[in-house]
Amino acid sequence: MKTSLLISAIVCCVLLLAKCTSIEANNKKDLDENMLDMMMYHDNLGLYLRKADADYSSWLLEGMDSTLQVIAKKFDEHRKLSDPFLKSYKKLLAPSINDIRSAIRQNDFPAAITAYRLLTKNCNKCHLDNDIQKTVIDGTDPSIH
Ligand code: HEC
Repeated sequence: MKTSLLISAIVCCVLLLAKCTSIEANNKKDLDENMLDMMMYHDNLGLYLRKADADYSSWLLEGMDSTLQVIAKKFDEHRKLSDPFLKSYKKLLAPSINDIRSAIRQNDFPAAITAYRLLTKNCNKCHLDNDIQKTVIDGTDPSIH
């Protein structure tokens, strides 16, 4: 009797926890506002990669990546996008993001910067493909910070 009570108590806790953690992230912003958040992450990431600051770079990288995933989930379609955001994220952004991540882990900042520049190129590729008049600038360029 005692054991079954304990087991049902544990099951209740697990269910409650599962319910709490499954609350969806509520992204009320439109794509342009999400993109502005992205720009702040991207721009600062370039600066801190140039400064070879592993802690801050990886904090910014993870912030950028999780925001991108939230965007990808929300913008399955958008009047300004020809493809679902997730498709472009996987094809254009995720490979360079993974390369930056592993380069930072190895403290290889030249490699991280090379991957960052490819990422920047691919941000712009999507803008070009969708006729968006916005050029994302390279945050590792010393003349801008
Ligand atoms: C899937 C395609 C796609 C990718 C990939 C993409 N963007 Fe965009 N971006 C857009 C679209 C579409 C807009 C226009 C949004 C609007 O006006 O509603 C935009 C707009 C912007 C803007 C202008 C926002 C404003 O309101 O002025 C910035 C800044 C921006 N993107 C940064 C980035 C950065 C940085 C990356 C790479 C990390 C990136 N974008 C990757 C599609 C993309």
